[in-house]
Amino acid sequence: MTLQSSSSSPGSAPTVPSRTGNEESKIISPPAEGLTFWLSVVIVVVIFAGGLFGYDQGVISGALPGIKSTFSLDLFMLQVVTSWVTLGALAGSLVAGSFGDRVGRKRTLLLAGALFTLGAVVQSLAPEALLLVAGRLIIGIGVGVAAVAAPLYAAELAPASLRGRFISSYQLAITIGIFLAYLINADLSASGNWRMMLGAAAVPGLALFVVALVAPESPRWLIMKNRRAEARVEARKVDRRLDVEAHLESIELALRGEDKPAPWNEVFRRECRRPLLVAIGLAIFQQITGINAIIYYANQIFAFAGFASAESQAIVTTWAIGAVNVLATLIAIVFIDNEGRRKLLLTGLVGMGVSLAVVGAAFRFIGAGGQAAASAGPTLAGIVTVGALVLFITCFAFSLGPVVWTVINEVFPARVRARGVALATAVNWGSAYIVSQFFLSLVQAIGISSTFWLFALFCAVAWVWIYRTVPETKRQSLEDIQQMWARAK
Ligand code: BGC
Repeated sequence: MTLQSSSSSPGSAPTVPSRTGNEESKIISPPAEGLTFWLSVVIVVVIFAGGLFGYDQGVISGALPGIKSTFSLDLFMLQVVTSWVTLGALAGSLVAGSFGDRVGRKRTLLLAGALFTLGAVVQSLAPEALLLVAGRLIIGIGVGVAAVAAPLYAAELAPASLRGRFISSYQLAITIGIFLAYLINADLSASGNWRMMLGAAAVPGLALFVVALVAPESPRWLIMKNRRAEARVEARKVDRRLDVEAHLESIELALRGEDKPAPWNEVFRRECRRPLLVAIGLAIFQQITGINAIIYYANQIFAFAGFASAESQAIVTTWAIGAVNVLATLIAIVFIDNEGRRKLLLTGLVGMGVSLAVVGAAFRFIGAGGQAAASAGPTLAGIVTVGALVLFITCFAFSLGPVVWTVINEVFPARVRARGVALATAVNWGSAYIVSQFFLSLVQAIGISSTFWLFALFCAVAWVWIYRTVPETKRQSLEDIQQMWARAK
């Protein structure tokens, strides 16, 4: 069963039914006057975690040539060095769910900071290839743990009226991390100083650890652990205007006395099926619409489009992809809590689909002349490709990028939230791995135009699925969202 729209306009379909006015005003915190000190600390934690995720994802392409020559690696080992971060992230995200329930959101973030720091140090000092791979795996696990813990932490600590912005700042940090990695790649790749590129992540890793040490714990997790007095202190700290008692009561009500985190099998129970479907569907669509084919292979795509020198490719990648990704994420931060999640998703997907179709057409237009054009500089079709990819990145950055992480982190009931988020995040990493692993093979098998058209087709499928299935969750408390699923049964 899907949640059907009560109106036909894209932005207004399935909404969360509201409670009576009184009840609702007790539960939803009023819009914060401004950020309190402790809410700012929450944002700093989230930004460091997201930034490290993005940096570690983006930096490897610049480091590979230097690593290759230092250790004389063959193709297999080069792929291991590249892809084991993703595998580590997959494992890390699964572990982070139960860890987050057992020891708390804050300690899980401490673990992420420690793993980032350790992994960066091991990589940069690695005397041999196997230790480098071990360092890649440690960093990967750190990325996976952070990818679950940071947005979950933001979702549970943010006032309802700002939750979209909080989680989007995590996405903003990912994009800044990727952009910084592109800049550093361009700067250091001539010297081949890969140890510096990989080791640089130790500093923000350590900073994440230190800030997480002092950051507040999630009141929702404390309530789940029956630590009400501490929950009251933490809730009061982050939002001074909150009616703390009503807030804690609503969390307790939502837990319905079941104050132990659920075991794994509960995530698959009937009442969790709908949130699980929404979270996993969004996690898959975020990846199979092509974002990481573009993030990882931008240089090769631009080479196809006629940017012949490595330098010109690096410049277009840094600015047309990296910088645009950062700037367009700001659009989501401005609109996500007012316009809502659905409107951003549905509008962004239209732009993504159209731009991918245009890139496919531009490559068909370049055709066999692509190589000849490469030596003569960018062709008209090449310039069209850059324009279309800028549109694609812009649309992704204000829609599927931030909104998917936001919705994944708000749809689950408290008892299964950490595990549900962990599962959806692992599926996201698995999908990212498949797309990045097989993109070049797909291009070889069906051609670059058809590959982009396939991504465009997935955008169309995603649009229809989201229109029919994903509810609007803006400005609702996490507990109200839970009520919505119960009512929609
Ligand atoms: C995705 C990543 C992607 C990044 C690009 C994130 O939301 O999960 O896979 O590389 O956005 O900005």
